[in-house]
Formats: sequence, C-alpha cells, structure tokens
Amino acid sequence: MKSAYANPTYQFHIPGHTKGKAVYKEFKKLIGEKALSIDTTDEFDNLGTLHPATGPIAEAQELASKAFGAEKTFFLLNGSTAGNLAIGMALTKKGQKVIINRNCHRSALTGLMISGAEPVWVCPSRIEDWSVWGNIEVSKIEQALKENDNVGLVWITNPTYEGVVSDIKAISEVCKKYNVPLIVDEAHGCLWNFNSHLPETALKLGADAVVHSLHKTGGSMSQSSMLHIAKNSKINPDTVEKALKLLHTTSPSLILLGSLDASRAVLQSQSGQKLIDRAVKNAKYLRKRLDNIPNLHQLKPSFGYMTDVTKVFIKIDGLSGKRLESILEIDFGIEVESASDIGVLILCNLGNKRSDFVYLADALEKIANADHKDIYYLENRKHMPMLEPIIKMSLRDAYYSEKETIPKEHAIGRISAEVIAECPPGISILLPGELITEAHLPYLNDYKELEVVKTL
Ligand SMILES: Cc1ncc(COP(=O)(O)O)c(C=O)c1O
Repeated sequence: MKSAYANPTYQFHIPGHTKGKAVYKEFKKLIGEKALSIDTTDEFDNLGTLHPATGPIAEAQELASKAFGAEKTFFLLNGSTAGNLAIGMALTKKGQKVIINRNCHRSALTGLMISGAEPVWVCPSRIEDWSVWGNIEVSKIEQALKENDNVGLVWITNPTYEGVVSDIKAISEVCKKYNVPLIVDEAHGCLWNFNSHLPETALKLGADAVVHSLHKTGGSMSQSSMLHIAKNSKINPDTVEKALKLLHTTSPSLILLGSLDASRAVLQSQSGQKLIDRAVKNAKYLRKRLDNIPNLHQLKPSFGYMTDVTKVFIKIDGLSGKRLESILEIDFGIEVESASDIGVLILCNLGNKRSDFVYLADALEKIANADHKDIYYLENRKHMPMLEPIIKMSLRDAYYSEKETIPKEHAIGRISAEVIAECPPGISILLPGELITEAHLPYLNDYKELEVVKTL
C-alpha cells in the first residue's frame, strides 16, 4: 500500500473520487488527503485481490493465520456479521439442526435464515442480579446433541458481550464425541491469543472455526474482522470462501483490509504485547479501585464461569445503567461501551492510558457518593429478556411468511415474523417464529407495532 501511494498513476477506474480529487472539501480536510488517496479497491495498484485471495492480500491473510494459530484466515468486510452469514450459508443446510445459544448475535440468526437450518436453542445460565446471560453449560450442549439427529453444527458465542466466558474445552470435547463441528463466535475475544492473562482462544481449545471482530478490541478499523479455520478443522475452507465471495462486496476497501494487516502486525509485535499488557494492568487497577467503593459492584468470575478482565461491567446502587451512562457522559465527558437497565460496560482498550482509568475511577467514586435521583427507574425500562423462547414456527418460514403489522398490545399470542435485536448487543428480543408473550412487552418500549405472521 505504501509503495502504491508513493508511485501514483493516472487513474481511470473506480473509485470515481480519484484519490480524493472529487471529494467535498470539508470532508477531505476532516479525514485527510492521504486517507482518500489510498482509498482504492482490490484489482488496482498491484495490491492483490480478496476473492480469490492473491498478492499482498493473500500474504496478509497468511500472516494473520500464523499470528492467530489458524490453518486459514479470511479477512472480513462488513464485520463478523459477514463471517456469521458465511458460516450459516456454507456450513448448514435446509432442515439441518444447529445447536446454538439463545443469546447469539443477530448475524448468526441471519446466517440460519439464509440456509433454512433449524436452530435448537440452548439457554445459557442466567446471572439474575446483573440481568445478563451467563456461561453455556456443557451438559446442555451434550443433552441437545443426544436429543437431536441431523445436527450440522454447534455454534456458540464466547465470551458474552459483558465478558462471561464458557468452558470451551469441555464443549469442544463433547462436540468431538458426537463428531459435530464447533463454531465459536469469539467476536469480543480477538486479543486472547496474545496475552496469558486473558482466556484461551477457542482456536486452541478445539473449535473448528472462530470469528474475531478485530475492529472491536484489536485496533483495526470499523467493519474489519477475521474468520479463522482452525488447524485440524472438520470444515473445508473452500466452502467457506465460496460463500464469502458471494456475500462480500465486489469492491473491497483496501483501507479496511490494510488496517486488518496493520492490527495483526501490532498485536504480534513487542510494542503490541506491551499495549495488551497495559490494558490488562489498567483493568486490574480499575477493578481494584472499584472494589473500594461500597455501593458500586462489578461483575466478577464466579462458580461455573470465568470473565475477561478487560470487560468491566459495573452497577451502582440506586442508579440504573442508563442513568449512570448519562451522568458519566454529561458531567464527566466519559463515554462507556454501553448501558443496560442494570449497569454500564467499560472496555479497557489498547489505546487507553493509566490516567484515563484514574479519571474514570475518580468520577465513579464521586457519582457513587452523590445522591442522584434516577428517573429511568420510574420509567421501568428493560434491556434484555432472558426468556426460554417458545418456538411455534421455523425461523426461515416465519421470516418469509405473509406478514402483518399490528399494534404491540394486540401482538400477544401471535408469532413474530421479524428479528428484534437492537445493537448493542445485537441479541434478539424476539425471533421469527417465536410466540410473543406478555413477558416480552417491557423490553419493547421503543416499538409501537410488531410484524407478525399473518393468520388466515
Ligand atoms: C457476539 C457477536 N458476534 C458478532 C457480532 C457482529 O460483529 P460486527 O459488528 O463485527 O459485524 C457482534 C457485534 O456486536 C457480536 O457481539
């Protein structure tokens, strides 16, 4: 990329802004001329192609597979979403069953809607005090494998958005016993292979394929992710690549691909190791400070599950997470990753300095010691239901059924025809094919109407 930039050519091809020349002045000033001048797609400037992978792009994927300990790595545009779509499309078939956790990301659902495979829902444990899903118990996976024939995949999310970690080794052993491939959506765990204080990556624990959102915590640009096929995987990489070719844009952004290569280079380097080490140490510092605030609580490892130390989920007595989030933002200029009705999620990132955490801990101390009134509690806003879904129709059939849109209050007893899953964390409140019950209503405050399967 550097040499393409240093040797500019006369350009008569896409993208038509022609190295930034036809770009709105203010925008150019904002993002910089240089960024626009390297905004090209594959095929040009001898930078290789993504599908099939050739040239420097193929080399960069190869380097990534070595760094992450995979047999083969595919660069993803449109995030891990693209990886999950490709997994569903390439590795499952209509009518086949897929054992999957209820709190999967909506992109996994979409993958199954493409293929027509049937999810067998496994509900993880519930961490009721925090209103979040916990770990996936291996016994539940084994039970589902025992009770179902024609299982194409076991597909699980690890860690959860809030950093709860399941026992992947035990789950992979069960999958091997039943000879079913294991896919792990490790979107939030791309740093794990690079630091011994973080959990072990599923690529080392027997998963067949793993998805990583490098852009979430790995330092690459938004939308850039990776899909790894593990060593000794049961999965044929060619099948996955064929699906990716169909799902991906035909104009891949070289900036995004380059940023994946750059983040791999950082994570592997000594300076990158130092950054991860600093993030872990900062997380420990923050957690220690928070331990000394009496009415502030943090989600910690407990019996049955571990946590990723860099994801700090906290709550303060008498304050909803939403309220805490707005106090942090308005009064202190602090932006957190997300807020639920219970708490806020803080990510200890590679780019944060120790002074950031000192400021954050001081701010939380002040908030915890002040007498804030919480209007959100009065509104009774609810974030994420943890219900056992009552499935009345297949996922795909419901999604493609004849639908009608009706007021939410009239939808109880009807079958959802849509995915309702706001981001973050992109976990569905309602799935196509799921019975809508009164228990869903507190979580649907933002919806006046729902799309349901039309009754004849
Ligand atoms: C568990 C999980 N998988 C997949 C995704 C999709 O990732 P991306 O935003 O990279 O498309 C997310 C996004 O939040 C996620 O939380």
